[in-house]
Amino acid sequence: MTRPVRKAVIPAAGLGTRFLPASKAQPKEMVPVVDKPAIQYVIEEVAAAGIDDVLIITGRGKQSIEDHFDRALELEHHLEAGGKHDEAAEVRRLAQLATIHSVRQGEPLGLGHAVSVARQHVGDEPFAVLLGDDIMIDASVLRAMLGVYEQYGRSVIALKELPREEMRAYGCVRPEKVDDDLVRVAGIVEKPEPHEAPSNLAVMGRYVFTPEIFDALDRVQPGKGGEIQLTDAIELLRAEQTVYGYVFEHGRYDIGKKVDYLRATVEIALARDDVGPEFREFLVHLVQREKLY
Ligand code: G1P
Repeated sequence: MTRPVRKAVIPAAGLGTRFLPASKAQPKEMVPVVDKPAIQYVIEEVAAAGIDDVLIITGRGKQSIEDHFDRALELEHHLEAGGKHDEAAEVRRLAQLATIHSVRQGEPLGLGHAVSVARQHVGDEPFAVLLGDDIMIDASVLRAMLGVYEQYGRSVIALKELPREEMRAYGCVRPEKVDDDLVRVAGIVEKPEPHEAPSNLAVMGRYVFTPEIFDALDRVQPGKGGEIQLTDAIELLRAEQTVYGYVFEHGRYDIGKKVDYLRATVEIALARDDVGPEFREFLVHLVQREKLY
């Protein structure tokens, strides 16, 4: 019997330098995509996958993330008094999505270090890690990963095929096929040069870990960029116990870079029932107008 995954960890301590100036005085996780801050999509995904304990790894200036998922009684009363019951319900719902905890990373020593800070809260349990630069269309990838964990009792990382040139921005694995959408990780490297990449399967920001990842993180030395890399800990872990890769194709929006953020915003807006149809019309007109030039 595997122990159930009850906790999720969301690293959000980065300085967001790729998102300046928007991230100067607010966390990049709070930058909105359509009308929700980016991190809300991630927490909704966690909740939809049945996990209700979330630990956010934060740093200086990240208070607004906690406020966003906390009750806002004054605002709720104000909305109710003005007859805005739907809006009030939405504000309340945010505080009920999950139990949110937070802990500070202290020093920005890398993603692996950020995850290691979760040890005290997570304890000796399996847990999920979700990175906010990837927004998922729904919780299906995370659910499938939890299913793989339930079946094998081992860590699972999300993988997606990308062009080889893009491997320098991602962790990259050497896969051994198990099934159509499942591989064993026979090796993993952080941000390889394309000609050195072991495959074109890139690590996306979703992981389910057995607690042994913490011991691996303790042993990891600074790697790429002088940082404690989560990827390097996975490489140590897989030498001791099987690590699986769940390969998926669709439903991921990358918001890590400005152009990707714009793409994601347009796609997510188009998929929305409320603003989608009107926005689609606007885009069609825009494209037609641009063609005239
Ligand atoms: C991190 C990880 C990398 C992973 C990526 C997914 O990199 O280190 O292995 O592929 O997230 O988004 P970052 O984007 O933080 O540089």
